[in-house]
Amino acid sequence: MNDINWSDLSFSYMKTDYNVRCYYRDGKWGELEVHSSDQVSIHMAATGLHYGQEAFEGLKAFKGKDGKTRLFRIEENAKRMYNSAVGTMMAPIPEDIFVNAVLKAVELNKRFVPPYESGASLYIRPLLVGTGAKIGVAPTDEYLFMVFVMPVGPYFKAGFKPTNMMISRKYDRAAPLGTGNIKVGGNYAASLRAGHEAHENGYSAVLFLDSKEKKYIDECGPANFFGIKDNTYVTPKSESILPSITNMSLCQLAEDMGMTVERRQVPLEELSTFEEAGACGTAAVISPIGKIDDIETGTSYVFSKDGKPGVISEKLYNKLRAIQYGDEPDTHNWVTVVE
Ligand code: PLP
Ligand code: COI
Repeated sequence: MNDINWSDLSFSYMKTDYNVRCYYRDGKWGELEVHSSDQVSIHMAATGLHYGQEAFEGLKAFKGKDGKTRLFRIEENAKRMYNSAVGTMMAPIPEDIFVNAVLKAVELNKRFVPPYESGASLYIRPLLVGTGAKIGVAPTDEYLFMVFVMPVGPYFKAGFKPTNMMISRKYDRAAPLGTGNIKVGGNYAASLRAGHEAHENGYSAVLFLDSKEKKYIDECGPANFFGIKDNTYVTPKSESILPSITNMSLCQLAEDMGMTVERRQVPLEELSTFEEAGACGTAAVISPIGKIDDIETGTSYVFSKDGKPGVISEKLYNKLRAIQYGDEPDTHNWVTVVE
């Protein structure tokens, strides 16, 4: 444990001391349980394994200069997991159980919250899985909710430096009236081949187009998209993208900074008009986009020529991080102080 190099963490799994679990059986949620093993015993016919009854969340805890640990917008993650459960006919996890389980998991693993100076954070992964056996395609009546945590660094290797993305029409991550707007494993399974091809070609992620017309920007594999021009923050409105809590927060911060915010369809060609572009999410924070290559048409959209993030992306990034680490007042009540 003492050998963790906090400033050099990547976004990868690390076993920590404890995880928190809660079972849904006989129509009700049980008590929170604390486990130290990171193994789960599950029925081979569990609906979570066969029929995708599975949803997860991602949020972070940050250690401030004052030594206090802060959680960012936990209620929003609780709400989104509730929606994911409803969308896949799982027993929704009540907000109070979600919040208490997360608080407990953070508290029990507080020695893994990276120090302020490292710029790293504790990633929290709540997970809801259908555990009851069912072989016909139908929802089960037994569920397991788990929360585990680990210290992480940047999701995209570059950190807060421009990274390149690729557009390809070969794959969709979500259907127009499918499950793209909830956080279920199937969306990520559908994005794996596209993501693999992107990595093989030297890109950090795929920027997906809308799956119906392939005319509009949807989102990246693990993050929402935004573009900036004329003092305006533009981000796609689409039924098949995940409503990102980071993006929602950046819209507010952009507005606070006197910018106009537009949430609307973003035609692919509009990429050429943006002064800056970025991917945003809990894991990605803000990842400025250097360029986007449309590999089928051979068009390149370039946003950073000097390897540096744009001025507005940097301002938004600094503001968001300052609130998360407690360096600036939490004027929107986004932060829960843990201790
Ligand atoms: N879009 C997808 C597909 C994601 O997996 C994530 C990550 O959670 C996001 C967007 C960003 O959402 P948030 O900012 O709530 O983490
Ligand atoms: C997150 O940002 O929390 C995500 O879930 C993105 C990815 C790791 C799936």
